[in-house]
Amino acid sequence: MDPINKTIRAYDKIAERYCKRTKEEGDRDFQKEMLLKTLSHLPDDPRVIDLGCGDGRDTEYMRKKGVDVVGIDLSKSMISLARSKYPRCTFIHSDMRETVFPEDTFHAAWANASLINLPKSELSHVEKEVYRILEPEGIFAFSFKEGEGEGFETSVIEEHERYCSYYTLEEIRKKMNLFDIFHSEESPNKIFGEKFIYCWGRARGR
Ligand SMILES: C[S@@+](CC[C@H](N)C(=O)[O-])C[C@H]1O[C@@H](n2cnc3c(N)ncnc32)[C@H](O)[C@@H]1O
Repeated sequence: MDPINKTIRAYDKIAERYCKRTKEEGDRDFQKEMLLKTLSHLPDDPRVIDLGCGDGRDTEYMRKKGVDVVGIDLSKSMISLARSKYPRCTFIHSDMRETVFPEDTFHAAWANASLINLPKSELSHVEKEVYRILEPEGIFAFSFKEGEGEGFETSVIEEHERYCSYYTLEEIRKKMNLFDIFHSEESPNKIFGEKFIYCWGRARGR
């Protein structure tokens, strides 16, 4: 089965358990700091897309900060969970490789731990799509797991396999051609046993 379909099926099955665990074990203070850093690069009244929003935790956080934000996710269970938890937010069931949004719709795209599920061969599709829907010089902020390789894996508490790609910062810089990576930060603690790196890229001139 296609790695993305299989991974999304896994999220469909584990959505509630997964989000409970993220809430309890994720380094939330650090993630909030990364989100605020992202917003600090944007103009007043920014429009932001939350790519692979999961249960919508970050979408809601941004909405409360006055951001015009929409969360998208390919897992139907994640989207229905998000809609029930945060009814004031907008959530759309969509693949980040091909969205419904016109060109130049957003000032920023935020992808927290969601590019990690793409096979490396798919990364450039997302990069192109994000570039298309961002305003000129828009900001792409994303995190990835530090390491090498890719493949299916099963976590200790979740029996369903998900695809995961690991990158070094050098590899990310080489692969992202449409964005200038102008800043990066490592998570101070391991999150779910992994070191995450956050990157901020600015869309190169068209
Ligand atoms: C590790 S979870 C992170 C969720 C959320 N961003 C957070 O920080 O808690 C990855 C999410 O990305 C979504 N996802 C994976 N591939 C996707 C794709 N191609 N398009 C849209 N969403 C995708 C999954 O369904 C899942 O909800």
